[in-house]
Amino acid sequence: MQRFSRRGRPARPVPAAVGAASPEVRAGAATYGWVALALYDISVTWLNNRYVWRCPAAVINRQYNAHATVRHLEVGVGTGYHLARARWSGRAAVTLADLNENTLRWTARRIRHHEVRTAVVNALEPFPDLPGAPFTSAGVGYLLHCIPGRLDEKASAVLGNVAAVLEPGAVVFGSTILAPGPSTPPRARRMIRLLNRRGILHNTEDTAADLGRALAAVFAEHTLEQVGEVALFTGRTAAAPDGS
Ligand SMILES: C[S@@+](CC[C@H](N)C(=O)[O-])C[C@H]1O[C@@H](n2cnc3c(N)ncnc32)[C@H](O)[C@@H]1O
Repeated sequence: MQRFSRRGRPARPVPAAVGAASPEVRAGAATYGWVALALYDISVTWLNNRYVWRCPAAVINRQYNAHATVRHLEVGVGTGYHLARARWSGRAAVTLADLNENTLRWTARRIRHHEVRTAVVNALEPFPDLPGAPFTSAGVGYLLHCIPGRLDEKASAVLGNVAAVLEPGAVVFGSTILAPGPSTPPRARRMIRLLNRRGILHNTEDTAADLGRALAAVFAEHTLEQVGEVALFTGRTAAAPDGS
């Protein structure tokens, strides 16, 4: 049956990756409409990161400056704030992959001075036909806490899918908000409860130990540290046998 938009025009077809995702997974990405995207940099990237999650945006941006390369994949792109602010060594070929087409359009426009490709993907499913692959770096910032499921399972799936489209010796870096621990302040606990109730976050059971297990299972080398409520990590794929 033909679907129609509210204005009576034929509705755009739903991308296959979106149609195949479970309603809970789709809800984790559907939050990012135009209004949410317009408010995201102020509300999440600046205010929440500093005053609720105790991990200022500059800390996350340092990951981009340290690890992003000119053949880069970004999964879970949001507004592209960190991509736009990163110091690149030149014009980069950047593939943006997300379950939400709004975030892809928003970010592609914001970093249009780079060579940008986009793909609608569910990060939980393999992405064999990704344009621009293989990549020498990949960013997965603030993606895992949006996805339902146990952290060791969702991180193994997502990071395994990303590792499969990387060059040998390539780096993945990312961040995710963990479940409250003994040192979590009340305002962060309240925010995590609220955002989980609304289906925006799925992280009430997410521990650094589970994330560490997933990183160790997928990568030859990894790092993991915690700043405030946020786990910051990197993983490196094994080098090619000739050491390149
Ligand atoms: C919180 S934003 C992250 C934005 C940005 N990376 C940052 O660090 O600020 C989460 C992004 O992940 C996307 N997302 C959520 N679930 C996804 C899934 N299963 N597959 C692909 N993208 C997903 C959302 O659409 C959104 O763009």
